[in-house]
Amino acid sequence: MYNKFWTFLFLAITVLTIQCCKDDGPDVEPQGRDPHTPVPYEIEIPPAFAAQQVYLNPDNPMTEEGILLGRHLFYDPILSGDSTMSCATCHKQEFAFGSDKPVEAGIHGDEGTRNAMPLFNMIFWDKFSWDGLQSTLEQQHLVPVTNPIEMAADWTIVEQRIAEQPNYVDMYWEAFNDTIVTKELTTKAIAQFIRSITAFESDWELASSGDPSVFLPDEALDGHALYLDHIKSSCLHCHAVPGNLTDFEFRNNGLDGPDDIYGFEDPGLGGVTGNPTDYGKFKTPSLINIEVTGPYMHDGRFETLEEVLEFYNEHVQESPNLDPSAETDFIEQGGGVFLSEEETANLIAFLKAQTDHRMLTNPAYGNPFEE
Ligand code: HEC
Ligand code: HEC
Repeated sequence: MYNKFWTFLFLAITVLTIQCCKDDGPDVEPQGRDPHTPVPYEIEIPPAFAAQQVYLNPDNPMTEEGILLGRHLFYDPILSGDSTMSCATCHKQEFAFGSDKPVEAGIHGDEGTRNAMPLFNMIFWDKFSWDGLQSTLEQQHLVPVTNPIEMAADWTIVEQRIAEQPNYVDMYWEAFNDTIVTKELTTKAIAQFIRSITAFESDWELASSGDPSVFLPDEALDGHALYLDHIKSSCLHCHAVPGNLTDFEFRNNGLDGPDDIYGFEDPGLGGVTGNPTDYGKFKTPSLINIEVTGPYMHDGRFETLEEVLEFYNEHVQESPNLDPSAETDFIEQGGGVFLSEEETANLIAFLKAQTDHRMLTNPAYGNPFEE
């Protein structure tokens, strides 16, 4: 009898403890809700992109309902400390979900040191941020919400604010069969939305697949020939074709000399790995949508594509971590590829043909609160 009593008490306490501490988010009773099976969402990858590795998260399968929820959260300022700033404040659709400023200020007006990155074709990446610090989108999305120089919020408060809105609770139920709003589900939904943003329909891709409605100027075709010419332009070494126009690597393209690389300005990949040979290396960006994602480089130092080309033409800096291809193609040629004015203009015309106008105006990615 005595033993049974204590066993019972022990079990009761265990059950209660598990019950009360099961989730850290605010609870809302799922009373009267029928289980909902979300509709799976498939991304069709066109042939030009098919050779590349795709990274989806098996713990976060994409569904129509999850993407819709993520889209609302992405555009909702209640994710920031004072409810004034959403992800879309820095990541604007018209700029391929990047920003038109070199760096952005957070809710308290403090500026960061890096250019807000465009967001599309994220399914092809397994490293995020300019320095590759985060290895999943879910992790990446935890960062800006609490970062004091970005949205400067507290997750517990954000969870509570979301849970107070019955339409959100319905959406969490439809997406995840859960009415408990947690930061984990919140970042999962946003990641589903971000993964759904694809840029497969640039003018270049459409014309290459035989779409007669797209016209490519001759300059863009001449620029393509230059782009493919390893020796003349060198771009292809790092912004590799096909599809995304990047090799998904972290490299040093010679923006700064050794003093700047090893100084405290921004160590890039070296700040993550602690390895001196990684100092000054940054993500090689995709060149899709490059026309609309300026200012350029990790710190937004160049306003225009003309300035970027001026850099590759004659201002590439020597340093121990400079990419070996840049050493031969730029430094040994006197600091750049020295394209003529006409060649430079052609290369820029080719880059401008990489804009996916449909993505920039696709209502499926737009602000759901303005519909
Ligand atoms: C204050 C401006 C700002 C806000 C708000 C902001 N971001 Fe960013 N975002 C940035 C900057 C700057 C970077 C580059 C960070 C770095 O390299 O350290 C970035 C990087 C990213 C990346 C990595 C992209 C890549 O190619 O590696 C993703 C994904 C992202 N942000 C999503 C979001 C989401 C989702 C939100 C909302 C929860 C958000 N951001 C809010 C400025 C912002
Ligand atoms: C050695 C590798 C390498 C070569 C060669 C190279 N790039 Fe880059 N490129 C990079 C890296 C790495 C970055 C990002 C650097 C940073 O922000 O610190 C970059 C950035 C850029 C950007 C800015 C992207 C953005 O989103 O801000 C453009 C535009 C660009 N490169 C175009 C070109 C063109 C055109 C060529 C050929 C003339 C070329 N690149 C050659 C590695 C390379």
